[in-house]
Amino acid sequence: MMTMAFLSSSYREELTFPEGFGWGAATAAYQVEGGWDADGKGPNVWDTFTHQGGDRVFRNQTADVACGSYTLWGEDLKCIKQLGLTHYRFSLSWSRLLPDGTTGFINQKGIDYYNKMIDDLLANGVIPVVTLYHFDLPQHLEDQGGWKTGAIVEVFDAYAQFCFGTFGDRVKLWITINEPNTLALLAYDKGIFAPGVPNPGNRAYQTAHNMIKAHAKAWHSYDSLFRKKQNGQVSMSLFSPWVEPADPTSAADQEAAKGIMALALDLFAKPIFIDGDYPAVLKSQVAAMSKKQGYPSSRLPEFTEEEKRMIKGSADFFAIQYYTACLAKHQEYSEGELNILKDINTEVFPDPSWKVSQPGSWISVTPWSIRKLLKYIKDLYNNPVIYITENGFPQGDPAPLDDTQRWEYIRQTIQELYKVTAIHLDKVSLQLYCVWSLLDNFEWTQGYSSRFGLYKIDFEDSALPQVPYKSAMEYAKVIQSNGVKRPL
Ligand code: NOJ
Repeated sequence: MMTMAFLSSSYREELTFPEGFGWGAATAAYQVEGGWDADGKGPNVWDTFTHQGGDRVFRNQTADVACGSYTLWGEDLKCIKQLGLTHYRFSLSWSRLLPDGTTGFINQKGIDYYNKMIDDLLANGVIPVVTLYHFDLPQHLEDQGGWKTGAIVEVFDAYAQFCFGTFGDRVKLWITINEPNTLALLAYDKGIFAPGVPNPGNRAYQTAHNMIKAHAKAWHSYDSLFRKKQNGQVSMSLFSPWVEPADPTSAADQEAAKGIMALALDLFAKPIFIDGDYPAVLKSQVAAMSKKQGYPSSRLPEFTEEEKRMIKGSADFFAIQYYTACLAKHQEYSEGELNILKDINTEVFPDPSWKVSQPGSWISVTPWSIRKLLKYIKDLYNNPVIYITENGFPQGDPAPLDDTQRWEYIRQTIQELYKVTAIHLDKVSLQLYCVWSLLDNFEWTQGYSSRFGLYKIDFEDSALPQVPYKSAMEYAKVIQSNGVKRPL
């Protein structure tokens, strides 16, 4: 009896988070809004890319309509209220506000739309977390060279200043650029994301370089022109896997794992959070490989001393987006093969013993690894305040409303976060967790075949009804009690 009583009480134990911990969900403009040409919105690179067809997106689907959030915002708000979110992260469509990407022409209808969202959120006690740019570059800017050219830095800064000036009286948490590392790799190295032109080994570094400078410049604009009056915070959301050596006893594999962390995360985080410059290991390896390949200089550009000073310290919190772990193995490549992974002689893959979220998915079910990543960030980046601006788990289509397996992943992830926040294991300063995503939506090249939403959307029904998955109801309980229960 004693044992039973002990067991049941510990198994049902409520794991309570510190007071004030933030519970959010996230979306992005292109993935949910639809209204691709409504009310004066200009085209962006994803409009162009999806309209070109060519089987680069699942069944050539587009986000012309998506979840219809441009007209159905009131329905999204109902979901947000039903969940009881403390924070809602969404992005502004750059070309809805500035149809050609520049402040030369401003679309008032776009301003009205986002004003309503922000006002409605605040009226319901929900804190808006606003991303300026989430993969949807205005087409007009792409036509002028986009992230490949240095000129984009000033243009992005002007857009950021416009947004701070227009919405910053109410928005206090800003993300400048969403996952510049994913964008550099998938859009500019592999060319599988819009604008869709592969250029392995070069463009990823070039575009990453300009995105870091654009972010830093916008942060300085906020700091010098808006911070005093608006008192908000600005950062950039970085994606990172957690990487383990394929063979933990192999020194080469250990270096390979460090190399992937450097390429995925530190390439962006070290300049911004430490010293304005890229990790030494990447600088030397890319320079050596470039030399062997006959390039006159390294394919990884260099920051000037003035740029380094501008970039260093240009973030008010560390925003991380986390989905999965992977393994890294040392692999020698010949000089003829150009690819940023090859620059660090590494191959990455999942551990075959890990379950995957759905057949063919890039996401392995590894909730334990979020704690390792948080510790890595804490140790390397001087214990910053951390916001998890995305974490999630997809289902295939058709996606069952009883998504028990998915909830178990989210629940276990939250249980890991409890360890670092409430009982202070690892002493990490984590303050916010956002689920990706509020709604099933347009998952880039996978179209609507990959469902990340807390709410199911029936895309076949023109009313686009939203129905909560089991995960939504369970997440609402977590938010209400500010904690999670251990399983029975
Ligand atoms: C990160 C991206 O920011 C988001 O747009 C995407 O849908 C999720 N990852 C899931 O892949």
